[in-house]
Amino acid sequence: MLLSLLKKRRSIRKYQPRPIEKEKIDTLMECVLRSPSSRNLNPWQYIFVTDPGLLAKLGKSKEHGSAFLKGAALAVVILGDPERCDVWIEDCSIAATILQLVAEEMGLGSCWVQIRLRKHGNNLSAEEYIRDLLQIPDNLVVASVIGMGYPDETKSGHNQETLQYDKIFLNFFGQR
Ligand SMILES: Cc1cc2nc3c(=O)[nH]c(=O)nc-3n(C[C@H](O)[C@H](O)[C@H](O)COP(=O)(O)O)c2cc1C
Repeated sequence: MLLSLLKKRRSIRKYQPRPIEKEKIDTLMECVLRSPSSRNLNPWQYIFVTDPGLLAKLGKSKEHGSAFLKGAALAVVILGDPERCDVWIEDCSIAATILQLVAEEMGLGSCWVQIRLRKHGNNLSAEEYIRDLLQIPDNLVVASVIGMGYPDETKSGHNQETLQYDKIFLNFFGQR
């Protein structure tokens, strides 16, 4: 059930050195293509990266927050097409979230790596670095990368008491 999945969901950045079965990768591919999108324009494309050399290089996309991709079994690079739809960011984000939840349901751990608006170094964006690495055409934007694999760390879900219910209002802003 989705609620129990959400209650235990956490970002997982350490993975067992074990490949993900082809059937599971096929399921992940199917699920991202079933993702909803504005006007059904589907302004996304995906690169499923399993090559260890490429995963190690993806791990160097940013100074902080991408290194764990080196140990992932799979990284899904999510590409948006701004010419196809103005709300491609929303569409790509929904696909990324669906991907993470389906991965979780299949016993995999995953974590988002933000690429859009992030730097690789002083003179290069993280997006330009990945574009060059994976031969991505200029009309597509690298939105994010979702790293995943069989978990090699355990984390408890967020406690009910830590949920920020003060951010939720009824009918009017500020009204409880
Ligand atoms: C839009 C977005 C961008 C994120 N970027 C990164 C990132 O670049 N590197 C990383 O290690 N985690 C990244 N995360 C994961 C967050 O750090 C994580 O979701 C947050 O700390 C809450 O932890 P939890 O997912 O375990 O509940 C990102 C998450 C989101 C939703």
